[in-house]
Amino acid sequence: MKFVRATNYRHAEDIRKLRNLGRKGFSKDNSLITSEQQKKWWKKNADSVVAYLYYDGEIPVGYCMLKLLCGKWWDSIAVSPLYRGHGIGKKVLGYVIRKVDNDVWSVVRCENKASRAIHVPEDWEELNGDGKFVNFRTWKGRKVD
Ligand SMILES: CC(C)(COP(=O)(O)OP(=O)(O)OC[C@H]1O[C@@H](n2cnc3c(N)ncnc32)[C@H](O)[C@@H]1OP(=O)(O)O)[C@@H](O)C(=O)NCCC(=O)NCCS
Repeated sequence: MKFVRATNYRHAEDIRKLRNLGRKGFSKDNSLITSEQQKKWWKKNADSVVAYLYYDGEIPVGYCMLKLLCGKWWDSIAVSPLYRGHGIGKKVLGYVIRKVDNDVWSVVRCENKASRAIHVPEDWEELNGDGKFVNFRTWKGRKVD
């Protein structure tokens, strides 16, 4: 199993497939993304994301992408349904949040138990939610070990 930084259209396409498989868990956009849309999106946004894929051999089994929006990093993550429940989500999220210096923010649907669980208290502070969504922010820069 290996991490690969997403740098090209082939990686963006692997992200798209994983994202579409997991789209129902996402907090905002749950639509299917086409290959064409992803290509356009990647062309425009590749410079403001830090994204890694996690491969089992040649099979992309998960990804986490951090997007810089209004000066803050926001996470999005998905693991292939066949590979869920084996710690990959926690591993990939923990790996990728350490690739940026600043805090990472996250919005998670309250009912998305798996997504809540991977935002582990060692790395994430749970902030106030509104009953439908719960917000998280990493402890980086504020945690005293
Ligand atoms: C969220 C997601 C990335 C987790 O990936 P994963 O590889 O299964 O994650 P892990 O195996 O590392 O951890 C899953 C945790 O969720 C817990 N979990 C899963 N389903 C659960 C449920 N119904 N109730 C309570 N806990 C649950 C597991 O017990 C595990 O926690 P534990 O290790 O403390 O026991 C994966 O479910 C996914 O791709 N979902 C669709 C996309 C999505 O929702 N992305 C997040 C958008 S905010």
